[in-house]
Amino acid sequence: MKALVGEHIETLKPYVPGKPIEELERELGIEGSIKLASNENPLGPSPKATEAARALLEKGHIYPDGAAHRLRAAVAKFHGVSPDEVITGNGSNEVLTIAVRTFCTADDEAVVSQYSFAAYPIICQAQGMTIHRAPMKEPLTFDLKAMAETITPKTKIVFVANPNNPTGTYVPADELRWFLGEVPDDVIVVVDEAYHEYVQAEDYASAETMRDVHERLIICRTFSKCYGLAGIRAGYGIAPAALIDRMNRVREPFNVNLLAQDAAAAALDDLAFVERSVAINEEGRGILEEGLSALADSGVSWIPSQTNFLLVKVPVEGVKVYDALLRKGVIVRPMAGYGLGDYVRISIGTPDEVRRCLNSLYEVLPTLVQREEA
Ligand SMILES: Cc1ncc(COP(=O)(O)O)c(C=O)c1O
Repeated sequence: MKALVGEHIETLKPYVPGKPIEELERELGIEGSIKLASNENPLGPSPKATEAARALLEKGHIYPDGAAHRLRAAVAKFHGVSPDEVITGNGSNEVLTIAVRTFCTADDEAVVSQYSFAAYPIICQAQGMTIHRAPMKEPLTFDLKAMAETITPKTKIVFVANPNNPTGTYVPADELRWFLGEVPDDVIVVVDEAYHEYVQAEDYASAETMRDVHERLIICRTFSKCYGLAGIRAGYGIAPAALIDRMNRVREPFNVNLLAQDAAAAALDDLAFVERSVAINEEGRGILEEGLSALADSGVSWIPSQTNFLLVKVPVEGVKVYDALLRKGVIVRPMAGYGLGDYVRISIGTPDEVRRCLNSLYEVLPTLVQREEA
């Protein structure tokens, strides 16, 4: 009998998302929980986006525009590129998947960084590819030199998340530019800028300013984070028209739904909302960092972040902290699945949510540490 699936699917470990609030409350019979586990926007969606989506509910019986013309035109205008250089997806995750399915076969290899977004190796393994992980440098930052050295003649695609999830770290513009010049011309470089809007570092620049350095460059952005549309699902890629044309051959015909197309286009226009989202994130991150520094003597530290989350090192197994916080109705993200067992990742919520998370941490940590020492 033929094997049900190939070895690459049999051994594939699925993506583990943040625990949904409903699931936790059902399991523990509690109410009023908060989720700081999936880097969502605590302000909710852009009001302009909600308004645009609401108006479309009555048209739910009509297929969406398969080519997402309006959204692509809005993205193109926003970035000063041609609509032929834009592909939209059901979240940026789908754009990543389309890229791998379009450009890679099982004979090709991918290079990712040691602790980076879990979807990259999953998508590549599903395609039957071999994946190589380049080491990071301290503090848990992409080492682009190591990545360049990991590339071989079999490498077809390389993923750089800038800033990176789950570490929150970024690569400065000059390093990224150097790397793009170093990668062989026939290799696709994906620069995933899901957290771009949050970046404050002055030596950061989007890869959109480096498109002349490496032709096979795909820049991904998402509406799930700063635009507050994670549940609506929309993201996009910017790449040379020749690449977008090939990706469109693989893309499903109606991949971005009716509501998402107009909600995302409206969100892109809502600069005031993005500003508010960035401001509340800065405020929340400040509160979280200050609150965590009170735990420094207990062995708590964090990686400096340019995003809407902090990767926090804890003095006991991260999953124990995660479990204890769950019981207080606070959902964070354990990191063992990323190979970072000593860490939890905490998304920046509203200032009140951040304070609640800190207070819960103050409550649970001493007992966890005592148990560890006993
Ligand atoms: C680095 C990175 N890229 C892409 C995504 C996928 O986002 P979405 O599919 O919601 O656009 C995420 C989500 O957490 C992420 O952290």
